[in-house]
Amino acid sequence: MHPSSLLLAAASGASAAPVFAVYFDQWHTTYLPERATTAGVTHVITAFAQSTIFNSGTSYAPFMPLDQVRALFDDGSKVCMAIGGWGDTSGFSAGAATEQTRKTYAQNVATTMDNLGYDCVDIDWEYPGGNGEDYRIVPNDQKVQEIETFPLLLQEIKAAIGDRELSIAVPGKEGDMIAFTADKVPLINEVVDHVNVMSYDLMNRRNNETTHHTGIQGSARAVDLYIERGMDASKLILGFAFYSKWFTTSGPCEGQVGCPTAELERPDGTDTGLSGAVTFENASYSDAEFVQAMQNGKTDEERGGQWYWANNKFWTWDTPALIARKFDEIIKPKGLGGVMAWSLAQDSYDWSHLKAIQKGVNCL
Ligand SMILES: *[C@@H]1O[C@H](CO)[C@@H](O)[C@H](O)[C@H]1NC(C)=O
Ligand SMILES: *[C@@H]1O[C@H](CO)[C@@H](O)[C@H](O)[C@H]1NC(C)=O
Repeated sequence: MHPSSLLLAAASGASAAPVFAVYFDQWHTTYLPERATTAGVTHVITAFAQSTIFNSGTSYAPFMPLDQVRALFDDGSKVCMAIGGWGDTSGFSAGAATEQTRKTYAQNVATTMDNLGYDCVDIDWEYPGGNGEDYRIVPNDQKVQEIETFPLLLQEIKAAIGDRELSIAVPGKEGDMIAFTADKVPLINEVVDHVNVMSYDLMNRRNNETTHHTGIQGSARAVDLYIERGMDASKLILGFAFYSKWFTTSGPCEGQVGCPTAELERPDGTDTGLSGAVTFENASYSDAEFVQAMQNGKTDEERGGQWYWANNKFWTWDTPALIARKFDEIIKPKGLGGVMAWSLAQDSYDWSHLKAIQKGVNCL
């Protein structure tokens, strides 16, 4: 395909059918949904290939043969290879650094897709420019160059993979959008097909007050920031989380937001163990505190978040009812390109969140 028609193809997302993407992570493969439950899924994103593989080779083997992955979904669903994930940035940093490393990286990604039969690729660099897991070890001021090189790496990857789709996973917290400046977003927008907004973890252990980790207001705000900085709304994919987060507060929490937390992260960036995440999978329902939260949760209708507080723990999560509201209040009015979820089998208890998304997509 001629390069200019590539850009045209990438730019014509508006008229396309809505994206219904699910990440399928390698740590949750025991309980898998029936095909009726996954009906309508357009993109399955296997997670993760290590970012360093592609600096010098193509030696990735997915955790499940792709024909087995495909068998779980509608015929014709696309299967994408996610690269990276939380804490895995070094291959991207090195791969983005120079024109030569970018070309090598992009070619290795394309060859791996050819070899394995992937339809699309998803770059999960968390995050270009810093604020990753290692932010206290490798400070952000050593990553400033990545703000320049990230769009260049994406350009090379798009050129190398031809007419196959390129998506990226991007942060939901404004402070983490370091490489997504008003200068750079238009360049990124030009070469990517979809932007998977991680509109969750909007509260993490770096916060010092409670807030909803995937509330409607916070999710809408994340999307608006990308639009303001030049991303096409039709490329933005709203993210849903199939887990609850919990955070220890320093005292009683009367209101759902603004309660001071205990020290959740040490100054050196390590975890104090006073916060965490619990997935909506069967095994989690043997955790009495989690079950108590799920059964007694309250809805902050205004901010659009489900929450519970007991035993000095603030719980924050998403419900099928709030998922339905996100379709009506964010996805439809803003003209977004679709939805994605992290991740498929984390919802194995009753698939109620996946089904709520499926229902919402059917009404788009
Ligand atoms: C809480 O975090 C905010 C924003 O990161 C910061 O400005 C503020 O000083 C912090 N407050 C305390 C009590 O640490
Ligand atoms: C998960 O737990 C629910 C409720 O106990 C049960 O109905 C369901 O069969 C379980 N699913 C699997 C795959 O074991």
